[in-house]
Amino acid sequence: MFKNLSVLSLSLTLAFSLATIFAPSANAMKLKDYHKEIMTDESGQVECAACHGDVKRKTIPQVSACESCHGSAEDVAALTQRPADAGHTVEPNPHDSMHYGTDLACTYCHQEHKQSKVYCNQCHEFEYPSMKR
Ligand code: HEC
Ligand code: HEC
Ligand code: HEC
Ligand code: HEC
Repeated sequence: MFKNLSVLSLSLTLAFSLATIFAPSANAMKLKDYHKEIMTDESGQVECAACHGDVKRKTIPQVSACESCHGSAEDVAALTQRPADAGHTVEPNPHDSMHYGTDLACTYCHQEHKQSKVYCNQCHEFEYPSMKR
């Protein structure tokens, strides 16, 4: 039997990995929690087309796919509008910036199959603690 805990935990890890490899999830692509439920059908399949459309070879989704549920880029910008007199006391609206207006593609910041990042922070150090990564 197992001589010590580390051997046990190694075996458990191995068993878990094998279970993952052989799990029957044909189209598994990691989704964000906030999308997972509404984009998984009764059989457990993720509806890739919700974002990717019906294309054969998937590429980065069009902004229009996000907008079909979230409203226009202007609608989204309105959700994160800053008070007119806020000045430098708050981080700028990521959805309506002085450089790009509302034209930056959602997927520059909101990633789906990996961690989201704030595009602006290639140059700035803005903090958006409530952004879901
Ligand atoms: C089929 C409809 C649908 C599509 C398509 C869709 N979303 Fe969503 N999204 C939702 C719903 C519903 C929620 C959860 C409720 C909410 O927070 O608005 C959500 C949540 C989010 C959130 C979290 C909001 C928060 O509370 O912080 C982000 C960010 C987001 N979506 C971005 C995107 C992006 C980017 C795309 C395109 C790649 C996209 N969504 C496509 C329906 C959709
Ligand atoms: C420049 C980066 C960037 C881009 C581009 C961007 N977002 Fe965001 N988004 C953020 C950040 C940062 C937050 C968190 C905002 C905050 O904390 O004030 C956020 C928040 C959100 C939220 C939650 C808003 C709420 O109710 O508080 C939604 C929904 C969302 N984004 C959807 C979108 C969609 C759809 C697009 C494209 C039309 C988009 N975002 C483009 C960075 C971005
Ligand atoms: C909620 C929207 C959404 C859903 C649903 C979704 N994706 Fe994606 N997908 C994205 C976004 C956004 C990207 C861009 C990279 C990233 O964010 O991870 C992407 C990128 C990809 C890429 C890489 C494309 C490239 O050129 O880099 C593949 C492959 C992919 N998705 C496959 C799938 C499959 C397969 C499914 C269904 C199981 C799926 N996606 C469901 C939003 C989505
Ligand atoms: C490629 C680098 C780069 C990116 C990406 C970038 N910025 Fe900037 N930004 C700058 C530079 C350089 C300045 C200072 C020069 C100027 O004011 O035009 C600046 C200035 C600003 C200012 C004015 C600063 C102040 O103190 O008044 C704001 C606000 C701003 N950026 C917001 C954003 C937002 C929001 C994003 C993402 C949507 C973003 N930036 C993305 C380079 C960048």
